[in-house]
Amino acid sequence: PVKQFMSATSRMSVPTEQPDTAPPPVTKKSPEDFIFKEIIGEGSFSTVYLAKELKTGRQVAIKVCEKRHILRERKKDYVLREKEVMNLLNTKRKDSVPFFVKLYSTFHDAEKLYFEMSYAARGDVLQYIRRVETLDEECSKFYAGELLQAIEHMHSLGIVHRDLKPENILLSETMHILISDFGSCKLMDHVVPPSPSSSSSSLSDSGSSNPPGRRASFVGTAQYVSPEVLSDDLRRGRIVGPPADLWAFGCILYQFVSGLPPFRGPNDYIIFKKVLALEYQFPEGFLPNAQDLVQQLLKLEPTERLGASQAGDTYTSIKNHPFFNGVDFDTLYCQTPPKIL
Ligand code: ADE
Repeated sequence: PVKQFMSATSRMSVPTEQPDTAPPPVTKKSPEDFIFKEIIGEGSFSTVYLAKELKTGRQVAIKVCEKRHILRERKKDYVLREKEVMNLLNTKRKDSVPFFVKLYSTFHDAEKLYFEMSYAARGDVLQYIRRVETLDEECSKFYAGELLQAIEHMHSLGIVHRDLKPENILLSETMHILISDFGSCKLMDHVVPPSPSSSSSSLSDSGSSNPPGRRASFVGTAQYVSPEVLSDDLRRGRIVGPPADLWAFGCILYQFVSGLPPFRGPNDYIIFKKVLALEYQFPEGFLPNAQDLVQQLLKLEPTERLGASQAGDTYTSIKNHPFFNGVDFDTLYCQTPPKIL
């Protein structure tokens, strides 16, 4: 069944007679085209390697998944969606932003699936936060600004990431963000602003609603999960849409400024209880403008989050918030990022 993963891109064998106008035959890459180096990332059903492409000498990141493991863990849909979303984000549009890990190719052998991706040479944002404890105001504005541009673009394409967190915000050689890990994404049928009476629901895996009495497995990470993903409202059909990413954005902004995520605890259960009770505090000295923005994003009711009514459009209400004073969103990708000190 995993075959479907590969059939989406054409695989042509030895070219037969072709008219002059035919495109060049597409030959699939294979693991032999690369030298695999060290492990640079590990997930529950994949391992990411740094690799060098022999033909070009280019450094790339290759995500490797074992077919057996994916089938056993029923993760086929996640793998297919990850590929679909990365292809969508790679499609050039006039409003595209370069803030996503690129998918260069996919291929497979008897046991494994391979995703050849752009290599984020500077690791992830979490490492930097840990190293410097907190980002200063300039860095917080710059990196929150790039993250917002990335979220805006995903939402305009109907993509909800659902697992935004500092570990999934990678950094390029030039220290611009590259969002990664699209296995938890949900594709919205059409982009509509959420309303409290929406009737379709999704908890996690397939983006479809669950049969009565069956709860889908939880997707996401406890510290950044929105209350609507956790709450019993789900079984009454509350939609999980773009505002779930705005919640995570609020949590990440809090972490940029203070060093730690707002909802913390010794285990996921305790974190979930705090999320549902909106139980968090701001440490002394927290930037006042950032505090106001976080408070407007961390609303239990998804439709009340700043920008929620603009989902799928431009998040002007967030960009115009005083926290972002002086940020030129449209040129962030070509600015020299402030040094993280
Ligand atoms: N870890 C996971 N994906 C990565 C990538 N594309 N580049 C660097 N490290 C990664």
